[in-house]
Amino acid sequence: MRRRLVGVGSASAVAAVILGLGSGAPARSSSTFAAGDPAQGAQVWISAGCGACHAFAKAGSTGQTAGDARDLDRWLAPDAARSRLSVGLFAYRRIYWGGRGMTAYGTTLSAQEFDDLVSFVSGRPFSAPAGAVAPVPSLPVSPPLVTASARTVARWAKVAQLPKKAKQGATVFATVGCLSCHTYLGSGKRSRGAPDLSRAGGKGHSLAWFRRYIARPTTLGNTLMPTYADLGAGRLQSLAAFLAASRGARKP
Ligand code: HEC
Ligand code: HEC
Repeated sequence: MRRRLVGVGSASAVAAVILGLGSGAPARSSSTFAAGDPAQGAQVWISAGCGACHAFAKAGSTGQTAGDARDLDRWLAPDAARSRLSVGLFAYRRIYWGGRGMTAYGTTLSAQEFDDLVSFVSGRPFSAPAGAVAPVPSLPVSPPLVTASARTVARWAKVAQLPKKAKQGATVFATVGCLSCHTYLGSGKRSRGAPDLSRAGGKGHSLAWFRRYIARPTTLGNTLMPTYADLGAGRLQSLAAFLAASRGARKP
């Protein structure tokens, strides 16, 4: 194995050219390494029709609400982290090879279009490494979004006797997808082995712990739960207040 790794750089790029490996597009030599242009990539996004399936704010795409195509604003960074790849490389391989429910673009986009598109999608200058493109396996599909109504939230507030700030957090909790994996006072659907959170406040965790946990669960060893740092400080704080105040049903 070790010996085969020697010369992964230019030698394999040359081999790829000679053997015609990879895509129909010409493989680039290392001398042409220049990062892609995100503005061009935005055009590739449009012409390739990525927005038909994916929500992506920067592209003004809302995607389809049904199906497994991921909201790239929310899932791309955590999914890349789970695959232990940089966001650019992860996106590149997925777009190149496709996935469950996504066509492969490896033979339809040129090397330049890939660099431009991935620079746009990842938000960082990207140029594809020389040589063959390793596939990325399909990720576990995110569970279908489960939410609760304002009436349910009002019931929680009453039964659990939540203070005002906690009630705001309950509304966030009910709408952003926590109930897709967690249950709370009889609402929600358990998935990926996530615990019931009706008594989350009974374990003595601080508000800061809750904020950190929800924003970056991977830093506390949870790789099954998405990261929610993008919710912003205000919503994270109210979610923390909600969970810290949750001690189960106090009023029948
Ligand atoms: C027909 C719908 C569809 C189209 C069109 C589509 N995708 Fe996808 N995409 C998916 C699905 C479904 C997945 C999840 C695949 C998997 O994990 O196996 C996915 C996954 C991804 C991922 C990985 C996201 C993650 O967090 O796992 C990226 C990046 C991506 N697509 C970018 C693009 C780009 C860029 C285009 C346009 C060139 C595009 N997709 C076109 C359906 C689509
Ligand atoms: C895709 C599934 C999934 C989603 C969505 C999800 N979680 Fe989790 N969460 C988990 C899993 C699984 C665990 C348990 C991990 C473990 O035991 O190590 C967990 C654990 C937690 C814990 C720690 C509980 C404890 O006492 O240790 C908190 C707090 C939490 N989640 C809050 C939230 C909040 C708030 C949301 C929504 C913003 C959310 N989760 C969305 C899967 C999910």
